[in-house]
Amino acid sequence: MANNEDQFKKVVSHAKEYGYIFASSEIYDGLSAVYDYAQNGVELKKNIREYWWRSMVYMHQNIVGIDSAILMHPTTWKASGHVDAFNDPLIDNKDSKKRYRADVLIEDYAEKIYQKAQKEIEKAKVRFGESFDEEQYCATNERVVNYLAENRRILERMGKSLGNEDLADVKALIDELGIADPETGSKNWTEVRQFNLMFGTKLGASAESAMDLYLRPETAQGIFVNFLNVQKSGRMKIPFGIAQTGKAFRNEIVARQFIFRMREFEQMEMQFFVRPGEELKWYEYWKETRLKWHLSLGMGEENYRFHDHEKLAHYANAAADIEFNFPFGFKELEGIHSRTDFDLKAHEKFSGKKLQFFDPELNESYVPYVVETSIGLDRMFLAVLSNSLQDETLEDGSVRTVLKLPAILAPVKAAVLPLVKKDGLPEIAQKIIDELQWDYNVIYDEKDAVGRRYRRQDAAGTPFCITVDHQTIEDNTVTIRYRDTMEQERIKIEEISEKMKETISYKNWLSE
Ligand code: GAP
Repeated sequence: MANNEDQFKKVVSHAKEYGYIFASSEIYDGLSAVYDYAQNGVELKKNIREYWWRSMVYMHQNIVGIDSAILMHPTTWKASGHVDAFNDPLIDNKDSKKRYRADVLIEDYAEKIYQKAQKEIEKAKVRFGESFDEEQYCATNERVVNYLAENRRILERMGKSLGNEDLADVKALIDELGIADPETGSKNWTEVRQFNLMFGTKLGASAESAMDLYLRPETAQGIFVNFLNVQKSGRMKIPFGIAQTGKAFRNEIVARQFIFRMREFEQMEMQFFVRPGEELKWYEYWKETRLKWHLSLGMGEENYRFHDHEKLAHYANAAADIEFNFPFGFKELEGIHSRTDFDLKAHEKFSGKKLQFFDPELNESYVPYVVETSIGLDRMFLAVLSNSLQDETLEDGSVRTVLKLPAILAPVKAAVLPLVKKDGLPEIAQKIIDELQWDYNVIYDEKDAVGRRYRRQDAAGTPFCITVDHQTIEDNTVTIRYRDTMEQERIKIEEISEKMKETISYKNWLSE
């Protein structure tokens, strides 16, 4: 995947052209960092959600799902620490009047240094060929050692300053590194300040009686406040998990990079409740399990890496991100956090209700510890979309734009195409659709020459095209064309569904 701005622009315009994503309220010039999912986008998003849900809930007998409300009692956010501590460190440029997240400016700077090391490594790989030992090279090549050490030093210092709430040192670091406004190059910065990210709203009709509420900034708290309800009604035994997907809202200041950082987005979260003292074992388990889930989609092992947090959130005793190689570089896709007993204890304190589990094996009650996995659905969508979009040069020199979505996630699984709009071929195509649509989202397309239709489906990401031609009338066969290889095969109409199942089966994908 090209790691550049052009590729990213292509992804954004392709998303619009092929009905994946539109800017919200576009006829009014849109709303910054808010997006709508279009006819194909909604399907891809639903399929990613389903892929996650099946692996988390159906494949784990000790995990159940819930769907809690977006609006919650306001004390929830006092207890969780979001009212006091859900802040971003902001810095303004005095010349451009642009506002940035100070930590993002520093991280971007550190990433550039990391990329320099990567470039050296890539060059050496080519130079040394088979005999290349990457680990040894990283430990001994002076330039690479220095780049990696500098990258670490910067991130560690930032983590420490943020952890100590030493915003003056964050500013000092920006000055020392000579970080400039990315848009104007100016280094004329204000001090760094904290800014709360929650959206406020009101409940109630009259101004006097209205209650101040927040739109939830994470779905996790809906799980914590329901911990005992689920445990008791489901007779769950520790360790067990509660999963949920749903909208979250954050008043992001630096909202950019399309659907990477949005103000209204969707999370897929799972809280895993464990015995105190066992949390780090489960933390490692979930790190590994979640990475496997990503790898099962076949989007390239080299496109993922772990990033262990230097600066831990107020609730965590260990945390890591799974980062993905987006067109703008490696960035956080998913977080795995060992959240201790912070949340349940805080809700006990603020609600006055016990949130404990009686462990029959230990014969004692305790507040469980929690390991959380939290992935942004929209971010996953962007990872899938950007990784799948490819321009391929064919043997005849022409370029084919193809969206090589993992077939299990593709919005439309097959397009059924009559070769011509007459001779009874459309009727046969419709019959095929009538049968397939019980199991798959399939579409009918009869417009344009069949070659153009193939290209249209390639660009939309449809894994199969099924063409009905005159031979179909004679022997009940069709051609099935595979998006990725463009190979075609003649099969019986009754075999289509089985053929598709070979490629589109949760069992095959999730057990990869
Ligand atoms: N419950 C823990 C939690 O919310 P987080 O790291 O703040 O942790 C988890 O968010 C995931 O949610 C991130 O890894 C990211 O994928 C997604 N996410 C967070 N903020 C987002 C935003 N503004 N737009 C899109 N996705 C976002």
